[in-house]
Amino acid sequence: MHEEFETVRVAFDEEQGLATLTLNRPDSLNAMNGQMRKDIESGLDLLTEHDEAADGVAVRAVVIEGTGDRAFCAGADITGFSGVSPAAFDPHSMRDSIIEFPAPVIAKIHGYCLGGGLELALACDFRIASESSRLGFPEVDLGLLPGAGGVQYVARLASPSFAKELAMTGEHISAERAASEGVLNHVYSDANIDAEVDAFVEALAAKPPLAIRAVKDSGNVAAETGLHEGRKYDRRIFSTLLQTDDHEEGARAFAEDDYEPEFHGR
Ligand code: COA
Repeated sequence: MHEEFETVRVAFDEEQGLATLTLNRPDSLNAMNGQMRKDIESGLDLLTEHDEAADGVAVRAVVIEGTGDRAFCAGADITGFSGVSPAAFDPHSMRDSIIEFPAPVIAKIHGYCLGGGLELALACDFRIASESSRLGFPEVDLGLLPGAGGVQYVARLASPSFAKELAMTGEHISAERAASEGVLNHVYSDANIDAEVDAFVEALAAKPPLAIRAVKDSGNVAAETGLHEGRKYDRRIFSTLLQTDDHEEGARAFAEDDYEPEFHGR
């Protein structure tokens, strides 16, 4: 399935259950405008429809990437910025749609990943970058701070001090530094990034999808609440997973040497 929104292309390989959302404004280094926020949400809604219509689980993972080889996303579109009323600027709805999307979402970062682009990547479950990528929060030089909670999320992934450094200096840092601070999951050479991300999502797609989704939810609960509530959530979802066909399939594959399991999300 292919669908072209104004600023985002959606491709979905139904056989593998793998989807790609490509940010598609190459003339402005994929700068994020209101339309792009809407298109990302519409793309995820479309994938949700496929998922809900399926017997079991249709979507195993989604990759978000930028078109071209210069940028994942160079931040909010500055040309549409001045004069925008605070009420009209709501990046949180897009962020929530990624967090609440049931399957894992991976930001594949190649090139600039700045401002709102970095916040988009922070909303994803995983961030995988090529080594030439540059990340940063340049908002300070526009007299602003990251508008979608960027400082908060970097503070949790890395540390409050590192988040303040990024957002106060506005400097573009290397992928290597971002990974060493815990903001990126993996960094690969520019030549290998495509193959590595493919391998990562294919490995996720082969796992029992209900368990993958439960882990995503559990991680979200951990980020938003305390240990007591998190453990309660895990206990409840564990009991549900124990009753699935996928669990039975996994247990059979463990017990029988030559049995290749197939997981359908039931
Ligand atoms: N919003 C709107 N347009 C943007 C943009 C943004 N955030 N980032 C880049 N562009 C546009 C540029 O205006 C330029 O358009 P033009 O060819 O019509 O002049 C085009 O993308 C290429 O960018 P350019 O600045 O010429 O490339 P560069 O290699 O010299 O610099 C950056 C790349 C990313 C360092 C630079 O474009 C930049 O600093 N962008 C703004 C980043 C930012 O502050 N984002 C946060 C906003 S809150």
